[in-house]
Amino acid sequence: MKIFVDSANLSDIEAALSRGLASGVTTNPSILAKEERRDYREHIRDIIELILKFGQAIPLSVEVFTTDPSEMIRQAEDLVAHFGDYDGLTVKVPIGWDELVLIAKLTDMNIAVNATACMSFNQAVMALNAGARYVSLFSGRIRDTGYDAATIVSQVRAAMDASGSRAEIIVGSIRHIMDVNEAIQAGAHIVTVPPPFLVKMCQHPKTDEVVAQFCTDFAKWMS
Ligand code: E4P
Repeated sequence: MKIFVDSANLSDIEAALSRGLASGVTTNPSILAKEERRDYREHIRDIIELILKFGQAIPLSVEVFTTDPSEMIRQAEDLVAHFGDYDGLTVKVPIGWDELVLIAKLTDMNIAVNATACMSFNQAVMALNAGARYVSLFSGRIRDTGYDAATIVSQVRAAMDASGSRAEIIVGSIRHIMDVNEAIQAGAHIVTVPPPFLVKMCQHPKTDEVVAQFCTDFAKWMS
């Protein structure tokens, strides 16, 4: 069970890396658009330099930003041209019939693919059969349509284990800490978590209470 950081914010990514938390980073065009406006390639390069400062070339997912399949191929090739030197480069491609061509093409080029925006068991199965290294199931958006995300995660995991797949499930679209817990308990290999939830996941009122009590008791004993 691994944690990825779902953010393009350099400070948030550094905060997670400095705590030894992040086994990867996921971005998408909307997440990138939350950052200060600049050349996106320069921003991605800064994320790469930051990650390398902490040693390991962990997986960094960068998404194409078009719905046109031929433009998608051009953008993916551009990402590989600019960032193929980074061992952790993972190209994010939304699931779709035409998009499977790009997933297969990048896989043949030994470029890791994160098949993203998957909402269903069958979408994940198609992406895996096209060679995707990761399939991203969107917990919050699955729930928006009235389906139980954890059930889909566990079904995909079972099918992957039964077929000996070496790919991994990333659960994203996290809206609540419970989404993280349920994804992990349902068998997700990875959960990509927005930074505010990383902080909350460490918190519990009883933890604060007991640590305060320990300190008070010790201070009294020492005084
Ligand atoms: C992760 O890879 C996804 O792009 C992200 O978690 C999507 O989150 P959203 O559904 O809140 O936009």
